Amino acid sequence: MLKKIHAWIELIKLGNITAIRKEINTFFRGNIIRVLQEEGFFSYLKTPRTVEEIAAHFQWTDINFLHELLEVLVEDRTLKEIVNESPKYQTNEPLDTSWVVPRIFDDAMKDLWINHAKFLPKRLSGLYLPFTGGFNLFNWDNILTNKIYEQIRRAAFAFSGALKYRGKFLDVGCGNGYGTAAIWSYYYKKGAFSSKSPKSSIEIIGMDVNQELLRIAKEEFPLHLKKHLTTKDIESALKLEATFPEFAEGSATAIPFDDETFDMVYASQVLHWTDPHTAIKEMLRVTKKGGLIFGTQNFYPQANKFNNLHFKVVQGAHGFFHKKELVQWALEEGAKKVEFATPISLFVIKK
Ligand SMILES: C[S@@+](CC[C@H](N)C(=O)[O-])C[C@H]1O[C@@H](n2cnc3c(N)ncnc32)[C@H](O)[C@@H]1O
Repeated sequence: MLKKIHAWIELIKLGNITAIRKEINTFFRGNIIRVLQEEGFFSYLKTPRTVEEIAAHFQWTDINFLHELLEVLVEDRTLKEIVNESPKYQTNEPLDTSWVVPRIFDDAMKDLWINHAKFLPKRLSGLYLPFTGGFNLFNWDNILTNKIYEQIRRAAFAFSGALKYRGKFLDVGCGNGYGTAAIWSYYYKKGAFSSKSPKSSIEIIGMDVNQELLRIAKEEFPLHLKKHLTTKDIESALKLEATFPEFAEGSATAIPFDDETFDMVYASQVLHWTDPHTAIKEMLRVTKKGGLIFGTQNFYPQANKFNNLHFKVVQGAHGFFHKKELVQWALEEGAKKVEFATPISLFVIKK
């Protein structure tokens, strides 16, 4: 309970969570509505149409994804953009085009999601945004320094009790290493790197599929560290270079380490970008018995379905899922216990 309270305290620093969630939902919904409106989607649906007619008219070839999109629009019950009187879909005007940029998003984050939404028609035509390699396009490097990531990371550490553990630590989907530097600084402040006894120390490895982000992670680690430590601390921290994280290229779905290598495995905002079942299996495989897997992840039903459509344009992204799916995958793969804390979901899996 105490851990949950500490996690909450970190999240509350972001502001009023209910108001933030409302802004985020309006933004993601607005992005999709705007893109579809520009395509002439709603005008076309003033007359009832079947899925086949819609697909043929817009030359959209991915019928399954079209079904998914229509389902999201139909389920948007309060706004009733689209009604389904099987087998036909029709617009139920007036169209609600509300849109707002969430106060906690910076420009890079706003642009990233708008670009994803704009890709929707291409995705419906069977194309995907490439995940690996295409990222610098969207300036992920800037985005990952966003306060949201900072606070949910702090909350995840508070909820998991990870700062009491020592040993080998894997940061799955470490991105540009900004978060990995924060993690190093948390342990540094706990004295984990100053002791001569190896048992009281910690060895951090950051892993990501994206080579460009990894390059930044390696080159800019001291710069990142400066943003997480005071001027006084940074001087002594920079002398501990030998304890700085290693950065390795690898996918959460094929982790390039032996079984039972790590005491802790952490993944923040990563699972929905990949195949989460395989990732959980792999994370459990590389965790030692008695070890800890933890991180942050948005889950249905709280997670927003319009937001999910923004992920689904990206090659290989599974999108959001339910907590019960995570529990099932983890228990199937040998986990002892799975725990969650809301509202921005924090998870802990004990092996
Ligand atoms: C939203 S960012 C989160 C970065 C970091 N965990 C943080 O909290 O700042 C998602 C990260 O997951 C990485 N990623 C996506 N799919 C991955 C996969 N299959 N294996 C490892 N990393 C992956 C991306 O390259 C990106 O750096």
